[in-house]
Amino acid sequence: SHSAIAQLLKGAVAVDSQVTVKGWIRTRRDSKAGISFLAVHDGSCFDPIQAVVPNSLNNYNDVTTLTAGCSVEVTGKLVRSEGQGQSFEIQADEVNIVGMVENPDTYPMAAKRHSIEYLREHAHLRPRTNMIGAVTRVRNCLAQAIHRFYHERGFLWISTPIITASDCEGAGEMFRVSTLDMQNLPRDDKGNVDYSEDFFGKEAFLTVSGQLNGETYCSAMSNIYTFGPTFRAENSNTSRHLAEFWMVEPEVAFADLNDIAKLAEDMLKYVFSAVLAERRDDMEFFAERVEKTAISRLESFVEKDFAQVDYTDAIEILKNCGKKFEFAVEWGVDLQSEHERYLAEVHFEAPVVIKNYPKDIKAFYMRQNEDGKTVAAMDVVAPGIGEIIGGSQREERLDILDARLEEMGLNKDDYSWYRDLRKYGTVPHSGFGLGFERLVAYVTGMGNVRDVIAFPRTKGSATY
Ligand code: 4AD
Ligand code: MG
Repeated sequence: SHSAIAQLLKGAVAVDSQVTVKGWIRTRRDSKAGISFLAVHDGSCFDPIQAVVPNSLNNYNDVTTLTAGCSVEVTGKLVRSEGQGQSFEIQADEVNIVGMVENPDTYPMAAKRHSIEYLREHAHLRPRTNMIGAVTRVRNCLAQAIHRFYHERGFLWISTPIITASDCEGAGEMFRVSTLDMQNLPRDDKGNVDYSEDFFGKEAFLTVSGQLNGETYCSAMSNIYTFGPTFRAENSNTSRHLAEFWMVEPEVAFADLNDIAKLAEDMLKYVFSAVLAERRDDMEFFAERVEKTAISRLESFVEKDFAQVDYTDAIEILKNCGKKFEFAVEWGVDLQSEHERYLAEVHFEAPVVIKNYPKDIKAFYMRQNEDGKTVAAMDVVAPGIGEIIGGSQREERLDILDARLEEMGLNKDDYSWYRDLRKYGTVPHSGFGLGFERLVAYVTGMGNVRDVIAFPRTKGSATY
């Protein structure tokens, strides 16, 4: 058996015990005195552990040919390190070379700085770098913290389907799922594709959101959340959009918009705290190399209340701020990323919850406000990235929901199961969706969602 390097560097294993680590060489340095210093990493923490290899080992000559990326098993005594910045090291008495790197000169991940674009083109090798290693651990920490947060509050995790027939957001950005022969599509008399011959006997798509299914379980289990992949055939080539991304969607019975705005704030503070407590090593790297304020801003957001502003007031702020935007601002327009970022970065200098948007720019399921013009919707917007959460109170009144379906030209029959929830014991309920990659990009300061998911799917690109 062997130890994770994180356990050794943390001091969880007694000094002077015999240990084995298994991992990959980051760097090697040989001293004139006949000692080779190996930095070995295994992904368990930011720092590699140093193995001190004396030339008394009978494969010492082979050890001095090790290069970045070679795989090894090192056994020896764990001792306190005299060297700077290292707490513990291993005095090796055995180095088992498992896999060499053929032709180190052309090894794509040789130990030097690579551009982020270069790393994207080598997505299968990039987890070997410091940076993507750190992203991977922070992403995991955030995912675990999210599950913990909801578990502690008694929410049940529901797995909603990935293949669906309904377009939750109504934005027409769904990927079709079909087994029909594209060269030879069955047609009806009018020449339209006949999906009754398709696998499910009707049209089917990849889900854009688990919300509608989540609402059915919320209407019986009270507090639920989903955490799974969602898909959007969105034609936007930006640093915030993926075609495949993960969403966290809590849905809460007997809750209004303010209740879930509070839930969103509590959740974000909880996960920020978890990252600060558990991934200090990685966050120090991001603060040094990627985003100076990576740690300090999380610390300050955990302390202070998020700002809250009504859409209508936000429009006034933007109109009167004196800044020239690419997209003009007036009541009724959807806020663009530049507007969101101005509000969060310049005006409020904090994450901000924007509430009560015009109903015409929002989805059919949002609850109409008394004014007849707005719906009880909210977005949480963060400095540096813009919208990370979108949510709303849901329309729980059947007559108003039906009127809205009709107004938007949607077929009532397609929503019969959704309407049932309003017929049988309806309750006010609310929920939101957190874009998980946007959260990770924000926390790490990485800035581009393509660098915080293992194998990004974007328009024109689905390698691996
Ligand atoms: O605002 P959206 O579209 O809301 C919904 O889908 C609701 N049904 C959620 C709910 O109320 N249960 O998406 C929610 C979040 C956005 O705020 C954004 O963070 C993220 O999902 N998101 C994307 N992330 C990466 N790439 C994309 N193409 C995204 N589209 C949305
Ligand atoms: Mg949205």
